[in-house]
Amino acid sequence: MRSHDLIPRIPTVLFFDHTAKLGGAEIALFHLLQYLDKQKFNPVAVLGEPGALADKLSESGIETHIIAIDATVNQARKDALGARSLLKFGAVGKTLKYCMRLSRFINSRRVDLIHTNSLKADIIGGVCSRLTGVPVVWHVHDRIDADYLPKTVARLFRLLCRIMPDFVVANSIATLKSISLPDSSPCAVVYEGVLARDAAQENNHDGGLVGLVGRLSRWKGQHVFLEAAAQVRQQFPNTKFQIIGSAMFGEESYEQEIRALSRSLALDDCVEFTGFRNDVPRLVDKLDILVHASTTGEPFGQVITEGMLAAKPVIATRGGGVPEIVQHGSTGLLVPMGDADAMAEAICALLSNPKLAKAMGKAGRDRALEHFIVEKTVPRLEAIFQRVLLGNADDGASRDAIEQETLSH
Ligand code: GLC
Repeated sequence: MRSHDLIPRIPTVLFFDHTAKLGGAEIALFHLLQYLDKQKFNPVAVLGEPGALADKLSESGIETHIIAIDATVNQARKDALGARSLLKFGAVGKTLKYCMRLSRFINSRRVDLIHTNSLKADIIGGVCSRLTGVPVVWHVHDRIDADYLPKTVARLFRLLCRIMPDFVVANSIATLKSISLPDSSPCAVVYEGVLARDAAQENNHDGGLVGLVGRLSRWKGQHVFLEAAAQVRQQFPNTKFQIIGSAMFGEESYEQEIRALSRSLALDDCVEFTGFRNDVPRLVDKLDILVHASTTGEPFGQVITEGMLAAKPVIATRGGGVPEIVQHGSTGLLVPMGDADAMAEAICALLSNPKLAKAMGKAGRDRALEHFIVEKTVPRLEAIFQRVLLGNADDGASRDAIEQETLSH
């Protein structure tokens, strides 16, 4: 027997995402791949376009390939997907062709498992899994609900979730519930993990600095944040506000709108639009309060965990997976979605009680270190990969047990 026959082959896992723009799901994929145990899995990333994620992955030593998806397919927005638009662009034919191409790659690289990271990637990866016989794990980062996706897309996706993937991973209980899988479907909730780091130094801003982090998009609620800021300013004239992030998926008109809103609320001297930044953690470190303002249920809310890790008290909207992260009254304050008055009240409550704010920040950091760092989350995903690789996807993974485990956080 030759010596290399004795060494078991490390399974190759294909990580596939249709985009290389750094949305939340792509940041999560980056974190996952940094921590993934390379002794157990050989990761190969394939992205449907060049971009920031591809660069970051390559720089960090992950084998990364771009297999370009036709731009009309890739840029169709998930909230505008409809049967008519698919037919108009001949998207079905183009997508099938792409699936064949990716399947050839999967076969030639002897991929053992496919991990898909976005809705479009799920469908393409699902077809490739059928064509190649390689199992597929769908990692769902979006709530599959009519307030978030067109109704027909949500319905179709729920149906496909039952028949295409070998396993469904959801980024929160809220996301998993939105898929409404039958009890027998192999699935689990795995929260996103960020890369652990030291807590931020304390700040001494005169009046406080309150920030909202995320791409500029109506449902991320920057307009609500500005309306709240205008109210806070009445009571705390020295407080400053930061909107950190840029428009990403063709939402530049919303950016114009909120810049105009800031002007009309006479906030220009206290609100800063930072634009896209590569050093978000450094900016978060400088905040006194981190605000999250989504107006529809956020599937998970990674920026919230970044804020908690930096020991910041968090004010967040009560929707989607957010209440699974923020403990109201202990690590931050939850407010109703789309309610600028309640948001302003919560900001004022923390600005007027720095001791409480500090205690919440500390409790948030403890909670983040316990549940929302890669050391805690990635091993759960690795265990799922192992199970699927062994053909045991539906073994011992009673949904109740997984939900119990998650809820007990
Ligand atoms: C998506 C979701 C966001 C989540 C992220 C990571 O971007 O919209 O809520 O935090 O994925 O799972």
